[in-house]
Amino acid sequence: MGAPGASYGPTRDERKKVTAMDILSRKRGEKIVSVTAYDYPTAKLVDSAGIDIVLVGDSLGMVVLGYPDTTRVTMDDMVHHTAAVARARPKALVVADLPFLAAGVSVRDTIGNAGRLVREAGAEAVKLEGGVRIREEIRALVDCQIPIMGHVGLTPQSIHAFGGFKVQGRTQEAAEQVLRDAVAVQEGGAFAVVLEGIPSRLGERITRELDIPTIGIGAGPGCDGQVLVIHDILRLFSDFPPKFAKFYADVGDVTRTALTSFREEVRDGRFPAAEHCY
Ligand code: KIV
Repeated sequence: MGAPGASYGPTRDERKKVTAMDILSRKRGEKIVSVTAYDYPTAKLVDSAGIDIVLVGDSLGMVVLGYPDTTRVTMDDMVHHTAAVARARPKALVVADLPFLAAGVSVRDTIGNAGRLVREAGAEAVKLEGGVRIREEIRALVDCQIPIMGHVGLTPQSIHAFGGFKVQGRTQEAAEQVLRDAVAVQEGGAFAVVLEGIPSRLGERITRELDIPTIGIGAGPGCDGQVLVIHDILRLFSDFPPKFAKFYADVGDVTRTALTSFREEVRDGRFPAAEHCY
């Protein structure tokens, strides 16, 4: 056992800044780990745990803003939250999501929107949902020197088209479509692709066939990395607990206990004590 507070890996400041090229080079290497964050203190915590990618996902619509799905998230929401995360100056790569309809409508608009995430908010890479349909947009963004992460399978922005949060690629034909989408993302020049909500065997197959890393969420253990929403890891929010999530700590419960103690101490006059007073 080391001394209390001893560190067992490089401290945050010793870590080298993670770049999109570093992530690309991890194909079939050390597994890539990504976690979402939507604000400054959470980005600092994520970074201090040695996470590779801090993702400002549009999941913020559900876990922070209280929407039932991600389709109401705006570009202004994404710029606001990405800027807060970027101000933490993490060693982790800062990837920000293009929200619903910020991509896939016109190449010009997509470049403008991705440009806002980089120029106004400080994102170091941009993620967008879709495959074959947006291959040329991905190519145009990469040509503009914006590193791109793709996202295929159960893409939450397509919830209405899918008829709900439904696992994709279950039939042979549907599996081929998810594979075609992932290949299109690679052909567009993305440095990595998120595979969401697909059978594990398909996740493994796509990972085998692609030259870029796959980062899974509900796509099985065969991917080159894994991503989770921080509210799921910490059990901060349990309105829609997904099957693929794992609770690593019950911070929701710890928070409730602390707040209950505060309420009780204020009511019975134990807080503030002498040491809290001027
Ligand atoms: O919005 C998000 O957080 C995401 C991840 C869950 C992959 O897209």
